[in-house]
Amino acid sequence: MKVLGIESSCDETAAAVVENGQLLLSNVINSQIDIHAVYGGVVPEVAARSHLEVIMPVVQKALDDANCTWDDIDAIAVTYAPGLVGSLLIGSLAARTLALLKNKPLYPIHHVEGHVYANFISVHSEQVSVVSDQKSLAQATENWPLSTAPKFPILALIVSGGHSQLVLFKDHGDYELLGQTQDDAVGEAFDKVAKIIGLPYPGGPSIAQLAPHGDPTRFAFPKARMKNPYDFSFSGLKTAVLRTVQAETGVAYDFPSYQLPERVSDSLRADVAASFQRVAVETLVDKAEKAFHDYTPASVVIAGGVAANQELRRQLTARLPIAIDYAPMELCTDNAAMIASLGFFYAEANAPTDPRDLEVVPSLSMTKTAWATS
Ligand code: KG4
Ligand code: ZN
Repeated sequence: MKVLGIESSCDETAAAVVENGQLLLSNVINSQIDIHAVYGGVVPEVAARSHLEVIMPVVQKALDDANCTWDDIDAIAVTYAPGLVGSLLIGSLAARTLALLKNKPLYPIHHVEGHVYANFISVHSEQVSVVSDQKSLAQATENWPLSTAPKFPILALIVSGGHSQLVLFKDHGDYELLGQTQDDAVGEAFDKVAKIIGLPYPGGPSIAQLAPHGDPTRFAFPKARMKNPYDFSFSGLKTAVLRTVQAETGVAYDFPSYQLPERVSDSLRADVAASFQRVAVETLVDKAEKAFHDYTPASVVIAGGVAANQELRRQLTARLPIAIDYAPMELCTDNAAMIASLGFFYAEANAPTDPRDLEVVPSLSMTKTAWATS
């Protein structure tokens, strides 16, 4: 079964074709990072306009790269929640229209749940390099054995710009939320700290790039203690970084933060990046390690944009007594392949949605069992 996935929940317009939930046939991502970088963050109206301009060419390229015509496509899966309302609307309206015009079953997919399915597609790091080369991608992934997919129960650490959560998947669509952030998501904390020290948007990759050049032990930033040991909180860490940078540069608490970066020396910038990243990552790994020992899952996966962080991968590998297959970087940040993959498993257990009825749900969190039939 070949599923066309469509994703437009934030600032990436993406379409992909995935066969049987695992075999990646194409993966097209049009990133708006350059458009939003000048503003230091995503501007929702600008994002929606950009999605509108490129959605159909992106879908067509996904079909072309997969050597598919519409006749080859068995179903369409689209992100309907959560995300920016204008962004979600463009992708979902395109999918609804195409489902009607081409007479294909349509399946609504939860974006955060979708992130986890990047791990069902790509489990061999040596295949990372082929993801941007569509021709060799199809060839290279042709013989991926199904046995490489994660095994249930799966402990998933979902870490993105909007979400930080630990979820135990007992089966497809049957999951339990162990804990989540009570304030900022970890990716958001990376983005905000980058702004404080004057690193470009998006902050996660900027901090990850600079951190190896700094001293990760120079600043002992605090780790939040939570009532539920699986919950996260990153706003205190972000404030501690702000106060430290203010103190180190000799300015008062009310100094305009947009003027701070010009006072930050290169060595202070690198040491803050390294110390912040160490504490943020340690916090994630502490909780993942506890959950691993409490629930003894058969597999551990990480998902979401922050899953691209090498320090997170290094610490997890060092501290968890289980082999972890990390998804390629290109499938950690937003993409439609993960939506198409989940679309396949979702379609096995659910009837399609009427394309005339599908509504977007911008703030739907992933809190309880979603759709499992068992
Ligand atoms: O999953 P994603 O692409 O979009 C959301 O659904 O939020 O995640 C984007 C987030 C941003 O906050 C970005 O700074 C962060 O992922 N990110 C990283 C890295 N690459 C992206 N954070 C830390 N290290 C990275 N290498
Ligand atoms: Zn995402």
